[in-house]
Parts: sequence; C-alpha cells; structure tokens
Amino acid sequence: MKNLAVFVSGSGTNLENIASKIAEGKLKNCKIALVVCDNPEAYALKRAKRFDLETLVVKRTDYLSKADFEEVIIRALKEHSVDYIVLAGFMRILSPEFVEMFKWRIINIHPARPNQFPGAHGIEDFWKFRPALTSTAATVHFVDSGIDTGPIIDEEEVARELTIKSQEDKIHQAEYRIYPKVIQLLVDGKISVKDGKVVIARS
Ligand code: GRF
Repeated sequence: MKNLAVFVSGSGTNLENIASKIAEGKLKNCKIALVVCDNPEAYALKRAKRFDLETLVVKRTDYLSKADFEEVIIRALKEHSVDYIVLAGFMRILSPEFVEMFKWRIINIHPARPNQFPGAHGIEDFWKFRPALTSTAATVHFVDSGIDTGPIIDEEEVARELTIKSQEDKIHQAEYRIYPKVIQLLVDGKISVKDGKVVIARS
C-alpha cells in the first residue's frame, strides 16, 4: 500500500476524483495519506473533509522563507510516510531542493501540452491565442525544477471545442481519466525514468 500526498490550492475536483476512485476500489494499492493545501479558503478542503482525509493547511505568507514553508510540509510528509506527491492544481513552485528530495516521486497534471502552453492558463492560452491548433491535451508529467518542464508520462488528446467553457469541460473530463490511470501505474512501480526519459511497463 503506497501513501499519496495530494497538493491542492483551489477547487479540488481532481482530488475528489482520485479520492472517489480509491473509495470505489478502481484505484488500488494506495491511499491519500495527506492533503497539503496552501490556501485556507480552497474549496478542495471541503472536498477533503467529505472524504475524511487528513489535511495540512500551510500558508506561504506565514513563513519568512520558502525553505521554512517547505520544511513544515516535508515534516508532515515524513510523518505520514508519503511515497508519492500528486500535484492537483497546486499553485506554488516547489524549490529545487524539495524536488530533489522527492526525485521522480512528484507528478503534476497540466491542462495543455506543457511544451506549448506552460504556466497557469494552459486552456485559455490554447483556446484563445492559438486558433490554428486543432487539438490540445491533458498531460501528466514528473515534476523537475522548471515550470511544467519535467518528463511527460502520458497525455490524453482533446479536440478543439467551440467554446472555452466546453474546452474546459473536455479537458477536465480527460484529466479525471488520465490522472488515476497514471497514479495506478506509478504506485504499482511500473513507471521509471532512465536518462531523463519515462519508461512505462504496461502489462
Ligand atoms: C486542473 O485543470 C489541472 O490541470 C491544473 O489545475 C486544475 C486544478 O483543478 N493544474 P481542480 O482544483 O482539480 O478542480
């Protein structure tokens, strides 16, 4: 049984989806040992409560340095024997030291192809500013010390929609399919990184 920590800052629909899949027995061999949230107002905390998940709420502005802020998180991760960190709408950049400590054990979901549209507005950037592109993707990647630059594990392609609202819906639906699938492979030890490239053992 592997322990996951899910990091959130906002709505938390991916958190809820992962928690539901675990509760339904569709995502196996893991549990959410801790939810880490940097925003006390996040709706994700209400979702966490519904699933009776343990939470750590830690505000960056309560600490003088990023190192102090991360120290609190690291302590909690150790206390909960966390094996993997699952970023699900976490709006902070983790320090290189933090990333190194959990090397190839942190994954992120990005609502676009990160090499095309990194950063916080992946759906909007695709839909509004690159009309010639006919498709985008929900992407899961390992976290390295850059912004959305880590090796890609998997993506689910999503066709261009007629409205941004339906584009968002389609991306989120794809996220709810792809993230649990990748988490399952990860906790089952089927994903590794060799020479900076992701290797997946699909049986
Ligand atoms: C998702 O679209 C994810 O790709 C991005 O942040 C969003 C989080 O949504 N990194 P939610 O909080 O899981 O609803």
